Amino acid sequence: MPLREPKIVVTRRLPGAIQERLKSEYGAELNESDRQFTADDLRAALGRCDILLCTLTDQLTRDVLTTTDRKAVMLANYGVGVNHIDLAAARKAKLVVTNTPGVLTEDTADLTLLLMLAVARRAFEGDRELRARQWTSWRPTHMLGSRVTGKTLGIVGFGRIGRAVAARASKGFWMRVLYHSRREAFESGGAEWRDSLEALLRECDFVSLHAPATPETHHMINAATIRSMRPSAYLINTARGDLVDEAALVDALKSGRLAGAALDVFEGEPAVNPALLALPNVVTLPHLGSATVESRVAMGERVLANIAAFVAGEEPPDRVP
Ligand code: GLV
Repeated sequence: MPLREPKIVVTRRLPGAIQERLKSEYGAELNESDRQFTADDLRAALGRCDILLCTLTDQLTRDVLTTTDRKAVMLANYGVGVNHIDLAAARKAKLVVTNTPGVLTEDTADLTLLLMLAVARRAFEGDRELRARQWTSWRPTHMLGSRVTGKTLGIVGFGRIGRAVAARASKGFWMRVLYHSRREAFESGGAEWRDSLEALLRECDFVSLHAPATPETHHMINAATIRSMRPSAYLINTARGDLVDEAALVDALKSGRLAGAALDVFEGEPAVNPALLALPNVVTLPHLGSATVESRVAMGERVLANIAAFVAGEEPPDRVP
């Protein structure tokens, strides 16, 4: 059924062009201060709007979604991951949930390569040395890293982003690419499937995570699975912090069980385990996977397309089942 004059609440500041459309097309309530919504803010917003335009910083838990005086009928998520939304509770509450797949694939894959190169070639460490005015001269043994070209990369989760990383690694860096996912892919672009995580981890110089955060993938990288990795291997995570037991990762990095880690996402974002920040063989970024103007505008356009379809009484293109 079409929705007449829907009230939309937007939980974060969005790119200007997207906010202008939300304002002119729907008179949406924007969040110009960009202050993160608390659970109470979310409950109040769900009570006064038809459509909540949310992001991954909004914890839409069962408790928040089952608030008694909810008016909202749609959660239009700005972003692809939906682990911050209790989907079972949303389904029960007959809330339509949408996300923004596809449009951030290439930028997130680029950032994964950036992190892999940065940790292997000690790029951020070098930058820190220069800024601290501690560089003395070129020297044959100065800050040696590990070669990337031709090495073996293991991709965990072989969806859009995993495949985009595989293509860059094999075409650009002549890497041998292995992947682990629940099923063998029909078209893998030359990447070889491993039917278990451990089998994949044993063979890789670099391991890059691209699985969604679900109860099944929670802490899939932990003390036991790290034991399957080579001590010379590097872990890269641009997916979700939830996939990695950070305490186990810190132990492995400190004890030389792993060569390094490159992380764009963390278990308790925006808090980061201080032990990780103290390690020289760790590079970190503040969840920048899709942070380009192009991706963030395209994500907004995708949200607008989902809202337009829903408001017209049609099936939104990116409905999350
Ligand atoms: C970013 O992490 C997203 O899920 O879109």
